[in-house]
Amino acid sequence: MAKYIIGRSPALAGEVAISGSKNAVLPIMAAALLTDARCEIADVPTLRDVDVMCGLMRGIGARIDARCGGVMEIRTAGIASEEVPNELVKKMRASVLVMGPLLARTGRARIPLPGGCAIGTRPIDLHLKGLKALGARIVSENGCVIAAAERLRGANVYLDSPSVGATENITMAAALAEGTTVIENAAEEPEIVDMVNFLNKMGAHIRGAGTDTIRIEGVDRLGGAKHTVIPDRIETGTFMIAAAITRGRVQIRNALPDHVKSLTAKLRECGVDVCVSDDGIVVDARHGVLTATDIKTLPYPGFPTDIQSQFMAFLTTVRGSSVVIENVFENRYMHVNELNRMGANIKTEGRVAVVEGDRLLRGAEVFATDLRAGAALVLAGLSASGTTRVSEIYHIERGYSAFVEKLRGIGADIVRTEE
Ligand code: UD1
Repeated sequence: MAKYIIGRSPALAGEVAISGSKNAVLPIMAAALLTDARCEIADVPTLRDVDVMCGLMRGIGARIDARCGGVMEIRTAGIASEEVPNELVKKMRASVLVMGPLLARTGRARIPLPGGCAIGTRPIDLHLKGLKALGARIVSENGCVIAAAERLRGANVYLDSPSVGATENITMAAALAEGTTVIENAAEEPEIVDMVNFLNKMGAHIRGAGTDTIRIEGVDRLGGAKHTVIPDRIETGTFMIAAAITRGRVQIRNALPDHVKSLTAKLRECGVDVCVSDDGIVVDARHGVLTATDIKTLPYPGFPTDIQSQFMAFLTTVRGSSVVIENVFENRYMHVNELNRMGANIKTEGRVAVVEGDRLLRGAEVFATDLRAGAALVLAGLSASGTTRVSEIYHIERGYSAFVEKLRGIGADIVRTEE
């Protein structure tokens, strides 16, 4: 079984370059199913989730060639199957993103209910509500959802909560629908803007991405496009916290500071120096005493739920007590038990966690329960005395490209072993 073995690390120092965004590239790949023309995507990160998406799309009929340097070519001359295999969908919740494109292109999609990180019940009712509004007939059968429509028709869709995946799925389906679709209370995440930029290069007519109202004028066909994926803001944030938790100084390149404003503000509140320039972001935590702060996770541009666990690991090491409120997912504190086993003092009650700071973490045998929880344990291990062994690291490798190599490059004591 593969594990990370982590020793107490010196203050991290040097430069690290951020890879393309996982959460942007997955919907962009799905969007490439909307055309029979060739699409070229650059800055594709090397990740297990991208491999899963490639496998899934090849099963549907896409031809995918990955060239060195993170360039991927996708061409789906015809759809071989509108059915997505169960074993792939169980591995990754984002598999559900092929539903909108398949339905729009072929009039049919059959998808098993999705899996992915075990962080709450995560239904797909909002995806289905939107597709129904566009005229799809939806039935469920043996754990699968079947959607069918001759031609989708534009409609007004109000999302009860601003779901990222539902916004993406409905936008992709509406791009080829007849007439105009307006999505209200849409999610505003930068990954949605990136996907919409790609769709517009393909010939779609979409405005308002990045606001809570997206307006899509449907077109009859979409063509090929070339696109470079935005940098991963969650990876960026994870390395910012890695610098802070080890009281180091790290320059983060290929990062977009605007996408990590909430984290930057919170690190500054704790006393970490964060400097933004054309060269990227410099995080310097070498001086002064760092102190507690409170966070609540919210849809973008609020504090990201995907950074909550890593920030909580950091909060265990600062002076004072902090309150964390998780508003996006109802079950996203699975890292708390593991952090407490490393000497943290965190209490949870529903969506609220109280973190007592100033703890000297101790290395322990811990396991990654999901992708970001796993990253939090790695960061905790960097600042803990003794040795930390993190197992179930396949979760972490779903979403961090060359994580060990990048951390070692700035001085971390971490190795990957097959035990
Ligand atoms: C995406 C991200 C994930 C991030 C999350 C929130 C990708 C591939 N994944 O996930 O990393 O943690 O946004 O920023 O981009 N919900 C419903 N019904 C639905 C859909 C969602 O109730 O139909 C609920 C979910 O259970 C959850 C909340 O809405 O509580 C947010 O989910 P959503 O924004 O859809 O997240 P994902 O798109 O799955």
